[in-house]
Amino acid sequence: MEEIKFNQIGVSFKGSGSYVPDQILTNQKISKKVDTSDEWIKSRTGISERRISNIDENVSDMGYKAALTAIEMANWDIETIDLIVLATSTPNDLFGSAPSIQAKLGAANAVAFDLTAACSGFLFALITASQFLKGGSFKRAIVIGADQLSSFVDWNDRRSCILFGDGAGALAIESTSEFDNLIGFDMSTDGERGSFLNLPSKNNKDSIIDNIDFLIGGFSPIKMNGQEVYKFAVREVPIMLDNLFRKTNFNSDQVDWLVLHQANQRILDSVGERLKIPREKILTNLEKYGNTSAATIPLMMDEAIRNNRIKQNDIIATSGFGAGLSWGAAIIKWG
Ligand code: COA
Repeated sequence: MEEIKFNQIGVSFKGSGSYVPDQILTNQKISKKVDTSDEWIKSRTGISERRISNIDENVSDMGYKAALTAIEMANWDIETIDLIVLATSTPNDLFGSAPSIQAKLGAANAVAFDLTAACSGFLFALITASQFLKGGSFKRAIVIGADQLSSFVDWNDRRSCILFGDGAGALAIESTSEFDNLIGFDMSTDGERGSFLNLPSKNNKDSIIDNIDFLIGGFSPIKMNGQEVYKFAVREVPIMLDNLFRKTNFNSDQVDWLVLHQANQRILDSVGERLKIPREKILTNLEKYGNTSAATIPLMMDEAIRNNRIKQNDIIATSGFGAGLSWGAAIIKWG
């Protein structure tokens, strides 16, 4: 890392981007595979359809496309990007997928790395990148959330396969010496409750030679205790956001938009109710995309920015939550 170059105090938001694959898997189609129905899925989750990556498409491809549209909105020269952080739990290369996004972008002056925190990953990555910017080491960063959960879903498990989809989103952020539009944040994990939602390694044994065994690399499909995850989300997210409002001297009346990880409409409604944030301020697009893990928050923000709902200087309360268990929140001023 280079020496500190700038005397910076904060972060400003310069652009957003997103990408979803064009293959659509509707509830009707899923109900041909497992014993479920459009009515059941919609009423329990709010989801109607989700996107599934084409077989020649991976997390780097999706992340690259989302990053490129964010960079175009920010109107940056690619060479001026210092940092690329990719939040993903489904890398196409376990050694790291972010450098291949760097290569596709031609961002020769950036350092790029992956960060894994499941559905909290985007917020954890945003907070991580902002620390480099506020510390003065880097000026411009692209934060990407991209996941391809379709590769790890058990498509015979009706309790979980209905929830997930593929996609990517990205934000372009820049350091500034004048203000800080990342007004406050918080993060938490609880590994004790990790077994409620995980994507564990397979632990299949083989032998190299004589008495020297090894574990073959590979993963089992997603395992989830839906009820416990639901209870965790509707309890922890409002507590964290409420504390954050207090810490930053905000109250929920001042929030223009609540952008939650798009897991389930009932979770979004319940968190909104507990925080006394009215439904019209809760942004949702999970009907079209389901739960795209690390991608949901930037995918939702990009859609709302491009259709002029989120405007310059709007206050956004956001929270990601999921496997780990992990959860994080931030108060942002857009711009
Ligand atoms: N279609 C039809 N029936 C289904 C079904 C499906 N897709 N999935 C489960 N069921 C059945 C169950 O088998 C059960 O039947 P039974 O009573 O005969 O045993 C019944 O519906 C109720 O199951 P339950 O698990 O209690 O449902 P639920 O109301 O908790 O809804 C979830 C299930 C998954 C929708 C809900 O728990 C949830 O959204 N949890 C949060 C999950 C989440 O967001 N995970 C990602 C976090 S990042």
